[in-house]
Amino acid sequence: MERILITSALPYINGVKHLGNLIGSQLPSDVYARFMRSLGFEVMFICATDEHGTPAELAAISKNIPVKDYCEEMWSLQKKIADDFHISFNYFGRSSSQQNHQLTQHFATKLWENSFIEEVEEKQVYSLADNRFLPDRYITGTCPACGYEKARGDQCELCTKQLEPTDLINPKSTISGSQSLEIRTTKNLFLKQSLLKEKLEKWIETKEGWPVLTKSIAKKWLNTKEGLKDRGITRDLSWGIPVKKYENIWPGFEDKVFYVWFDAPIAYIATTKEWSDKNKLPDMSWKRWWLIDEGAENVSYVQFMAKDNIPFHTISFPATIFGSGENWKQVDFIKGFNWLLYEGGKFSTSEQRGIFMDQALDLYPADYWRWWLLANAPESSDTDFTWESFQSTINKDLADVLGNFISRVANFSVSKFGNVIPETQIYGQLEKETIKKLDYHYKCLKDLMQNIEIRKSCNALRSIWVTGNEYLQKAAPWSILKENPEKSKMIIRFSLNLINLYSLVSEPFIPFTCGKIRDHFQFSKVTKWPESLDSFLNTLGDGHKIFVPDILFHKITDEERIRYQQTFSGMDL
Ligand code: MF3
Ligand code: ZN
Repeated sequence: MERILITSALPYINGVKHLGNLIGSQLPSDVYARFMRSLGFEVMFICATDEHGTPAELAAISKNIPVKDYCEEMWSLQKKIADDFHISFNYFGRSSSQQNHQLTQHFATKLWENSFIEEVEEKQVYSLADNRFLPDRYITGTCPACGYEKARGDQCELCTKQLEPTDLINPKSTISGSQSLEIRTTKNLFLKQSLLKEKLEKWIETKEGWPVLTKSIAKKWLNTKEGLKDRGITRDLSWGIPVKKYENIWPGFEDKVFYVWFDAPIAYIATTKEWSDKNKLPDMSWKRWWLIDEGAENVSYVQFMAKDNIPFHTISFPATIFGSGENWKQVDFIKGFNWLLYEGGKFSTSEQRGIFMDQALDLYPADYWRWWLLANAPESSDTDFTWESFQSTINKDLADVLGNFISRVANFSVSKFGNVIPETQIYGQLEKETIKKLDYHYKCLKDLMQNIEIRKSCNALRSIWVTGNEYLQKAAPWSILKENPEKSKMIIRFSLNLINLYSLVSEPFIPFTCGKIRDHFQFSKVTKWPESLDSFLNTLGDGHKIFVPDILFHKITDEERIRYQQTFSGMDL
């Protein structure tokens, strides 16, 4: 059987991520991982913190602690929050791991041996006020292409144009704000990805099923000189993976480290090794996911990321892998996401605008956020988080449709028939028709999830919930209770089986609630989703114990909505 390798773009270590970051990779990749496990696939779901580079160094300086300690602390925090959101990583590692040091250095040597790395004297921006070379992202200025005033020295966030710091109009240091910058000469290692143009082109051509967003960005980069330009993979920094190990081949690099865009994606592989080492497993256990001749030929590898990450995953990282000349697994499918906006504007860490992952969990349970974010995932275009939409989606889908069905059925069952499912007759015509409808939506859900269509999958799941509600409305067990108690019992038994179904198929999306439902009703764990629903909807029968559950979803009031709208607007500075 095919195995599924899933990686979620590595979040930068500095600071708690916001909901836009969450829906850009960790959350949709989690749904996909849970789903594929439910279909019986063996899944390896990997993520890690992206720890190197200037952001971490500066954050540590401002907290007055060693950068190593800072990263340690932030890794624990990010890990805890991911757990609290029920992100089901097989392993959440760190790009600063020993494993990544080794593997990054390994790739660099291989690339060097194969002549894909060269030493380049280049001019870099040095900030006199900050007393250091400034990495590209720490220089901002006006984008020469679109005029955006806060373009970064590596890329304009607005038009995605790739930039050099020297392209910027009116550049300044974002660390100090100083404009006294000068150009100094330094030596760095460059990845000659242009040499791999044809190979990359051919490879991307074979990716017929790739989403339009992914493919168009990849092609744009491949077909512009600028996009394929050789890229620096080292920097004059102290925190990172040192180059100095190769003094014999690279003298004069003692004070340099590999740059984040080189070492971070390699950490996908290294983190799998970290997982294997931590669990004291033989090397084979990580290699079978990553090396073609050690088992990875049976692996389907899917990456999740926001759109600004696509160029590095379609060009630079594949170039690293091809250039190594070794049999590493290349990605099979890249799922890219557009931006999530917050009430019509950008989420902003610096202006504290929008909702951050830790704050979100203080307000509502993880499943509320998961459901809204997934149902509104920015797949085909940017989407806007608004409190109105959040309130109405949660109240309607989760409270009125799903939650209400469960409490209505359980309440009626217990109050009329006691704490067991009564012995009943077999299902009638209406039940059979309902099973047919459910089967249809269930098949849609499975197809859509296999194609990683997140929003459409949510629609299919919602249709399953709605079908149950319509059934109950029509069957109306309360109105026939007196004249036909046997039929009323049968309707309730069917409805209780629907709750079992809901807790099964909703699990990838709202796992905590589904676990709660399963525990409460003592539903047995299903290791693999059934082919069709016919017999599954007959699982629960005579004698199964039933108790009334607590309310599953509390409605969001207008008062709450208005209060939070104000709290998170970021305007009361
Ligand atoms: N840290 C980067 C970001 O948040 C993503 C790195 S993805 C990796 O944009 F593949 F490079 F690790
Ligand atoms: Zn621009």
